[in-house]
Amino acid sequence: MAYKQLQQRGMAQPPVTVSSLRNMRAEAEAIACLTAYDASFAALVDEAGVDVVLVGDSLGMVIQGHDTTVPVTVADIIYHCRAVSRGLQRAFLMADMPFMSYTTPVQALDNAVRMMQEGGAMMVKLEGGLSQLRIVEHLAQHDIPVCAHIGLKPQSVHKLGGFRVQGRQQAEATRMVEEARALEQAGADIILLECVPGELGRAVRDAVAVPVIGIGAGPGVDGQILVLYDMLGITQGRLPRFVCDFMPEAGAVPAACAAYVRAVKERRYPAPEHCFS
Ligand code: KIV
Repeated sequence: MAYKQLQQRGMAQPPVTVSSLRNMRAEAEAIACLTAYDASFAALVDEAGVDVVLVGDSLGMVIQGHDTTVPVTVADIIYHCRAVSRGLQRAFLMADMPFMSYTTPVQALDNAVRMMQEGGAMMVKLEGGLSQLRIVEHLAQHDIPVCAHIGLKPQSVHKLGGFRVQGRQQAEATRMVEEARALEQAGADIILLECVPGELGRAVRDAVAVPVIGIGAGPGVDGQILVLYDMLGITQGRLPRFVCDFMPEAGAVPAACAAYVRAVKERRYPAPEHCFS
């Protein structure tokens, strides 16, 4: 690891860090993020200029073939994180805390430490709003970088009754803005906002000072993320409205990843057809 850091010091582009992500928000540079689950794709997306790579629990669906992210375990995330970390040079590595792996502050800290020490993650992401404040606070107090995922929370799919746009009612939208503020206050370094009307995406972004990354949250946030297999046209079946398949125009995987990064940076993605109202 130390050797890799020394190599990176000599690189034309230094590695992405929490503070460079904050600077990108301050300088209005859109943050381009993608998921990856193995070393080969990680190297490709890194080379394409992706800023943040997420080892998402979406791996339960796109790699393992489950219908939801619920069956994914901490061991699964660590396994894929280790592979992805070997493929990365510049991008910042974030990893999902799986379903029920952060029910208490102690359990959350134990699992986050494993994901960082054994998997090489630089930040952990957990789904949750006000009920997760003490977990976020506990992780932050131990200097674990945290991304708080709000809006549509796929780990709650059985409680929600399906994958649906969130925050369309005024009361729910107001609560989401409050959640984002409280999570920032508790120590979250990034907010990830999934599947909400574009107007609410902008309101959440304006309510906090940390970077807000959106997936189906419109163009008014600080960055975008997509599931790699969705934007490469690999995922079969009906896809959410916010997904854009970059393969047909690009023709090859490296070109599709580079086209995605350009589209995010130039704020051409998401286009109106990818947004909810
Ligand atoms: O698991 C995942 O890939 C995610 C993204 C959809 C943001 O959480």
